[in-house]
Amino acid sequence: MLEIGIGLVVGSCWSLFKHLSFPSSFSLSNSFLAACKSLNLVQTYGDEFALPSVNKTIAYPWGQRLLVGLPVGLSSAKVIDQHRALAEAMRVPAEDVEMRYANDGLIIDIFTRPMPETVPFESVNKGGGYNVPIGVNKRGEIRYYDFGGPYPHLLIGGISGGGKSVLLRAILSSLATGANPYMYLCDLKGGVELGIFRELECVRGFATSLTEVRSAAQAVENEMQRRYAEMAEAGAQSWTGNKTLLVVDELADFKARSGDPDAKLKGEIKAILTRLSAKGRAAGVLLVLATQRPSADVVDGLIKTNIAASVGFRTRDGTQSRIILDHDGAADLPDIPGRLIFQTSRDETLQAPYLSAADARQLIAVLPKKSRIINEEAAPHADAKPDTSEADPLDGNSIEL
Ligand SMILES: Nc1ncnc2c1ncn2[C@@H]1O[C@H](COP(=O)(O)OP(=O)(O)OP(=O)(O)O)[C@@H](O)[C@H]1O
Ligand SMILES: [Mg+2]
Repeated sequence: MLEIGIGLVVGSCWSLFKHLSFPSSFSLSNSFLAACKSLNLVQTYGDEFALPSVNKTIAYPWGQRLLVGLPVGLSSAKVIDQHRALAEAMRVPAEDVEMRYANDGLIIDIFTRPMPETVPFESVNKGGGYNVPIGVNKRGEIRYYDFGGPYPHLLIGGISGGGKSVLLRAILSSLATGANPYMYLCDLKGGVELGIFRELECVRGFATSLTEVRSAAQAVENEMQRRYAEMAEAGAQSWTGNKTLLVVDELADFKARSGDPDAKLKGEIKAILTRLSAKGRAAGVLLVLATQRPSADVVDGLIKTNIAASVGFRTRDGTQSRIILDHDGAADLPDIPGRLIFQTSRDETLQAPYLSAADARQLIAVLPKKSRIINEEAAPHADAKPDTSEADPLDGNSIEL
């Protein structure tokens, strides 16, 4: 009983301390209103003027929400434009304040709890099927990316050590244990990053050199064409069978410099990737492209236009950030591995799930492996019809590149 009593006292002292160490909802409201006045965020009616009003404050585990009413005539956009100045007036870093228009006013969220720096993969891998966790936002909500959804290709960029390969590991583990699509994995670090997936039955190709990447990309394109032919015959608009994923960890290595002996090969790979990005979706062919050095040469305009979902880890500068996200935001991210901006129809800052190689290995240990006894070339896709017409040895089959 006494212990519970002490626990309660310590607990409430701690929450009081935590509460006191951040601006209270009262002082947040007051500083917000004072800043509105000094920034002229008011509506004048002759000699009179009306200020916005804080109608309600709500405390959440992640911070405070202010529900702000605006006088008739004062647009929410005008207030949101002053986001940085208003945050400063409330003595809160600008990245910890979110403002958005809602119904008849403004919702202002002030995040006083720092985002976690580690999010265990198992705590967020709950999407199932083609829904893979990309991270947790400032409110502690899990954000998923749906490979079966409207933006099927994903571009991942950011500095070395940002967390690209760890995120790829999480994505592949989630997919392999979920929807289990066919995968072609290109790991230009010699298989160090994605090698743990190599023996899985669903992994139809594994490339560690440029020549092998071209073969893998070509195999995926052949499969795409085979599906289009099958769809045309059946009068179908889209592929309903298992999807095929082409993953490239380190797209920068395809950059063709002048005098580069691999220029032709790189050009061919880029051309196939461009075609896959344009036509892959309807045929259930998905791309995941990761790059450490986003440049316009690597992520060229065409590929970018066809990829509507991006993940930006911290970048070296605004230019690199703009290649991935069309704005400078990723350059301003804190230097925390796994911190990213996830962009689909809107942007959101997330902390990516962390999954160690050892844990990933354990997770996928239960999945079927390639059979060494059965000839790999003879193992067709589960949903592929016997194809006697085209004699492409890569098409639809497991390949060891
Ligand atoms: N989501 C995460 N949460 C916590 N730590 C992470 C996370 N992602 C990465 N890290 C840490 O950062 C290190 C580097 O991550 P990772 O290898 O994924 O970087 P990268 O972006 O692929 O770098 P490179 O471009 O050099 O390949 C990891 O070994 C891990 O210690
Ligand atoms: Mg990497």
